[in-house]
Parts: sequence; structure tokens; C-alpha cells
Amino acid sequence: MDTHLLSKSDIRHRIWQELQRAVVDRHHEWRTPVLATLGVDGAPQARTVVLRHADSGRAVLHIYTDSRSPKVAELEAAPQVSLVFWSKRLSWQLRMRAQATVQRSGPEVDAVWARISTSAAAGDYLSAQAPGAVLDTAAEGHSKGVSGPHHLALIKLQVLEIDWLELARSGHRRASLTQTGWTWRVP
Ligand SMILES: Cc1cc2nc3c(=O)[nH]c(=O)nc-3n(C[C@H](O)[C@H](O)[C@H](O)COP(=O)(O)O)c2cc1C
Repeated sequence: MDTHLLSKSDIRHRIWQELQRAVVDRHHEWRTPVLATLGVDGAPQARTVVLRHADSGRAVLHIYTDSRSPKVAELEAAPQVSLVFWSKRLSWQLRMRAQATVQRSGPEVDAVWARISTSAAAGDYLSAQAPGAVLDTAAEGHSKGVSGPHHLALIKLQVLEIDWLELARSGHRRASLTQTGWTWRVP
């Protein structure tokens, strides 16, 4: 269906439907959004992450990371973040404003680790050195001493506002969505 025919409530529903699809479809363009944070030096920081969970009812997204990565310290100092998604197929961009909380332990982290620990991705959370640390070997980019406790952290993002932009030949459309509000904007 042509997305430019969709109405307000259809668009809201479709956004969350596509986010949920992105979690399970590794080819979905929204699987790898850009997460922007405020660096501890006050300069912006942005990086690609994988979307792991999308709860439409609560407007919550989950991302996994290494608890020692710089983004975790940034989020703990300044939890307001921005996320950007683009889909060529949908011709939709999402810019989200969200509030992050980081969980390093507890039943939810344990449940995620129980799944990941037997997968090929386990090594991502077991490296001896922290992500971003300067390599002190001649390993040329491959330093994965894999042992010891895991460093998996769960980043929960409470979505506060979505800036939705649709590009269409017949005319672009843009709106701000909050949990209950809708404001059409000039694209
Ligand atoms: C396609 C792709 C997916 C990525 N997914 C994640 C992810 O889910 N979590 C993560 O922490 N880093 C992920 N990364 C690596 C980050 O982009 C980044 O390089 C790393 O987390 C260090 O970021 P930081 O120094 O800002 O903490 C991904 C990178 C790419 C290219």
C-alpha cells in the first residue's frame, strides 16, 4: 500500500509495526538506527546500533551494548538521546527523542545473556579490554581476549517524541507524535 494514503492513526500504528518487524528482520532498514548522545566533553556523539526490542504499548526500545563502552558513561551523565531511522522502502525518516536508562545486571540482563551466551555474538561482551581502549598489541584491530564475566548492558529507551517525515512526489508530510498527541508540521 502507498504510505502517503495513510491517515494519522494508521501512520502511528505502522511506525510501531515496522519497528517491531525491524527487531526480527535482519534486512529491515530500521534494524540499525543511529543513536546520538551528548559526549562527556559536551560534543555530540553518534553511532549505529541494532534495535533489539520495540514495545509499542509502552513506547520503549531496547539496545544491547558493552557496559564499558563510552556511550554508557555518556548516557548515565546525560540520559536524553536522539535516534534516527531512515527507510528507503517506506520513504520515511524517524527522529526520536528518548530518555535512556542502562541496566548492567538483574533478571532482564540475565535473560538476555542466557540467550546471547551461546551465540556467536557472545564474544562482543566478553573482551578483556574495554571498547575504544587503545590496542597495546600488534593485533591490528583484532584484540579479542575472550574470558571472564560478561559486560552486557541493556539500554532502555523511553520514546518521548517522534518526528516523522515522509518523502513523496505528491508532497512531503511531517508530523510530531507524542504518546497521545499529533502535530502536523511543515516538512
Ligand atoms: C551495523 C552496526 C551495528 C552495531 N550495533 C551495535 C549495538 O547494537 N550496540 C553497540 O554497543 N554497538 C554497536 N555497533 C558499534 C557502534 O556503532 C560503536 O562503534 C561502538 O558501540 C562504540 O561506540 P561508543 O564508543 O560511542 O560507545 C554497531 C556498529 C555497526 C556498524
